[in-house]
Amino acid sequence: MRVFVTGASGWIGSAVTDELLAAGHEVVGLARSDAAAASVAAKGAAVQRGDLDDLDSLRAGAEGADAIVHLAFKHDFSNFAESGRAERAAVELFGELLDGTGRALLLASVVAGLTSGRAATEDDANPSAGPDAPRGGAENLALGFAERGVRAVALRFSATVHGRGDHGFIAELSRVARDRGVAAYVGEGTNRWAAVHRLDAARLVRLALESAPAGAIVHAVAEEGVATRDIATELGAALGLPTASVDPEDAAEHFGWIARFFALDLRASSALTRARFGWEPTGPSLADDIRAGYYTR
Ligand SMILES: NC(=O)c1ccc[n+]([C@@H]2O[C@H](COP(=O)([O-])OP(=O)(O)OC[C@H]3O[C@@H](n4cnc5c(N)ncnc54)[C@H](OP(=O)(O)O)[C@@H]3O)[C@@H](O)[C@H]2O)c1
Repeated sequence: MRVFVTGASGWIGSAVTDELLAAGHEVVGLARSDAAAASVAAKGAAVQRGDLDDLDSLRAGAEGADAIVHLAFKHDFSNFAESGRAERAAVELFGELLDGTGRALLLASVVAGLTSGRAATEDDANPSAGPDAPRGGAENLALGFAERGVRAVALRFSATVHGRGDHGFIAELSRVARDRGVAAYVGEGTNRWAAVHRLDAARLVRLALESAPAGAIVHAVAEEGVATRDIATELGAALGLPTASVDPEDAAEHFGWIARFFALDLRASSALTRARFGWEPTGPSLADDIRAGYYTR
């Protein structure tokens, strides 16, 4: 398949690009800078220069593609409303372009805000809908295109997609711990995060691209829920720092922007994904990757 991958230069997207190319697919990667273009081209993918805010560039990238894997996202948590607006605009455009074609639109999402007090499953609908919802309500928007002849698939990634080179949530928690001199968790730290290794996630994206039916929800989850206290304890051990609880009222001051995520229970199961797509994660666990020293700098 010829696949237009947005976010091809990113943490997950670069692994997805490798995975797709290795499986014999053609990749056209969106790149907004010379550095991103160089990293996409070095893999052997074609480059579509552009930006999420330049819908014509998204249109050009999607032209002639059999599928779109949309992984680009503006990770500016100080202006999350704008990130959601851009996300919704991109997904609206992709839906329009693929309307009635039967072609695939795979959209990155996250196992957040789905359930309370239990692990979310693939059968749990996302309650976030509409332009003002987190991430612009894009998951439901995209899945709605399934009724219009688009093979729309939601890729719900774990709260942490970890591994060597990760610059996401766990890296930020490590930065905060080094800054504060303590690897902290919020309250009792019993809230849990689903986790998956980056290469397992990339393999699942390929499997979903190749075989998921319209309307499918896929959970890239290897570990259903790692207690945030255990994440902090592993980080503390790796950094040579003590571990301590932070009162929920003080979490925002202590952790900054990541407090709102680290206090959440983001558990999710992938039993249905494994059964439906024959996916079995094999990568190291989150604790293994922290112990390997990938989060000490
Ligand atoms: N990593 C995780 O733990 C995790 C967990 C759950 C969900 N997700 C979701 O999975 C998706 C991929 O995440 P990731 O970790 O790979 O993110 P990432 O490493 O931050 O990569 C984001 C990608 O989007 C591109 N991008 C950002 N703003 C753009 C813009 N204005 N125009 C064009 N491209 C733009 C970046 O390009 P540059 O290379 O030029 O910066 C990069 O290729 C996102 O939707 C994310 O929210 C990730």
